[in-house]
Amino acid sequence: MKLFDLHGKVAIVTGAGSGIGQAIAIGLAEAGADVACFGHSSNGGLDEAAGKIRALGRKALALQGTVTSAADLSNAIDVIEKELGALTIAVNNAGIGAGGKAETLEQESWQRVYDINVTGVFLSCQAEARVMLPRKKGSIINIASISGSIVNRDLYQADYNSSKAAVIHLSKSLAMEWVNRGVRVNSISPGYTLTPMNRRPEVADQVKIFERDTPMGRLAAPEEMIGPAVFLSSRAASFVTGIDVVVDGGFVCW
Ligand SMILES: NC(=O)c1ccc[n+]([C@@H]2O[C@H](COP(=O)([O-])OP(=O)(O)OC[C@H]3O[C@@H](n4cnc5c(N)ncnc54)[C@H](O)[C@@H]3O)[C@@H](O)[C@H]2O)c1
Repeated sequence: MKLFDLHGKVAIVTGAGSGIGQAIAIGLAEAGADVACFGHSSNGGLDEAAGKIRALGRKALALQGTVTSAADLSNAIDVIEKELGALTIAVNNAGIGAGGKAETLEQESWQRVYDINVTGVFLSCQAEARVMLPRKKGSIINIASISGSIVNRDLYQADYNSSKAAVIHLSKSLAMEWVNRGVRVNSISPGYTLTPMNRRPEVADQVKIFERDTPMGRLAAPEEMIGPAVFLSSRAASFVTGIDVVVDGGFVCW
């Protein structure tokens, strides 16, 4: 399927050390891309992702940094362009879960969510666009959430939900700002997904509720985010910009 082929393309995935980011990084490599895995995980997840990408015969980099630092992002992109070539695909996936009752939520924890989930995505887009716009070539995909469009029943997470709504609208805003300059910007909104966050024994009961509330009756596997990411990265999506692709097993229908 040449339409979806990513051979010769260079990608960055933020938060590629675990979960959805790691699955997408490996998935882009399966479609042919060379991939830089950027993040600040200390558990070896970035190296693990890079190792799996190299095992597929593609080039990979594991780059430590935080998305809250414009300098870390710009240094990483310098290294990517030097080692792998021109960056044309970016998946801005790094994000944190959060929550707490709104009336008692500490400003500090609210701010941390916004720093990573919103400012981190903006700084990532900015650094990536700085190399993509002059070449008029690029696809940026921001990982939002269904929580950016719906409110998860019985979960108190005004901070997380509103941060993800910001990611969706930031993506549309940048898509329109760059619409005539060769850079497409879209978001993917996963539904409940079986990442380490949702495998903890203490959330086992909550996960049963997620399964019950998802029309398909189960959580997504992280690998189920690969198809939409490859599509949006590829020539198959050449006329697609400013959309939010909801990948949720039907969740937002109910
Ligand atoms: N798991 C779900 O059910 C679900 C549903 C919808 C959306 N999402 C979103 O998907 C994305 C990935 O989540 P996940 O479930 O795979 O979680 P995860 O915790 O496994 O992955 C998040 C990754 O981001 C990295 N990260 C966190 N802060 C960072 C920073 N400041 N700089 C660089 N890297 C940083 C972490 O080290 C980690 O590798 C997040 O944006 C999350 O909000 C997840």
